[in-house]
Amino acid sequence: MAKAVIINGSPTAGSRLTAIMDYAERSLTAAHFEVNRIDVAQLPPEDLIRTRFESEHIVKANGLVAEADAVIIASPVYKASYTGVLKTFLDLIPEKGLAGKIILPLFIGGSLAHLLSMDYALKPVLSSIGARYILGGVYTVDAQVARREDGGFDITEVLQERLDSSIEELVEETQLRMQRI
Ligand SMILES: Cc1cc2nc3c(=O)[nH]c(=O)nc-3n(C[C@H](O)[C@H](O)[C@H](O)COP(=O)(O)O)c2cc1C
Repeated sequence: MAKAVIINGSPTAGSRLTAIMDYAERSLTAAHFEVNRIDVAQLPPEDLIRTRFESEHIVKANGLVAEADAVIIASPVYKASYTGVLKTFLDLIPEKGLAGKIILPLFIGGSLAHLLSMDYALKPVLSSIGARYILGGVYTVDAQVARREDGGFDITEVLQERLDSSIEELVEETQLRMQRI
């Protein structure tokens, strides 16, 4: 069974990003992937800020990354980039820790102004950790994820279609890669 891990770089529990990650998780589960999630903001702040590679929490999170065939990197856009919270965890992934994995970035911003942040901010960092199979990813905006009164979210049909096609690509590329090794 293929394994995926979703790395959640949002510092906010009720983020619109949650709706996107939940959607991705449901789709991957339906495609018979085992899905785990790393909520970076739930890891001990001291471990993240002081780059404690030896922390049991970090070792456990890195174990999920190591055993994953596919990795989703999810983040809101903060100051024209991904969040600082996410960077504290990316810094703790061992050298070559993303080698051989299929990577799908999922970003949400307030506007389209920082559409290229996946390319200029995230991809060089992922590449430095060994990632070589980085899919195009999905950049969406707050307006495409409506917050309902009951606390849930409604994702527009257009965004659902974009997510479906990216996740389908992730599933196919992961299966192809697994056949090759
Ligand atoms: C500190 C901060 C910085 C932000 N900077 C940007 C930005 O540079 N570009 C952008 O498009 N949206 C920006 N936004 C909007 C968020 O990306 C967007 O509202 C996102 O859905 C918020 O996710 P969150 O609830 O997980 O923080 C910013 C929001 C915050 C709180």
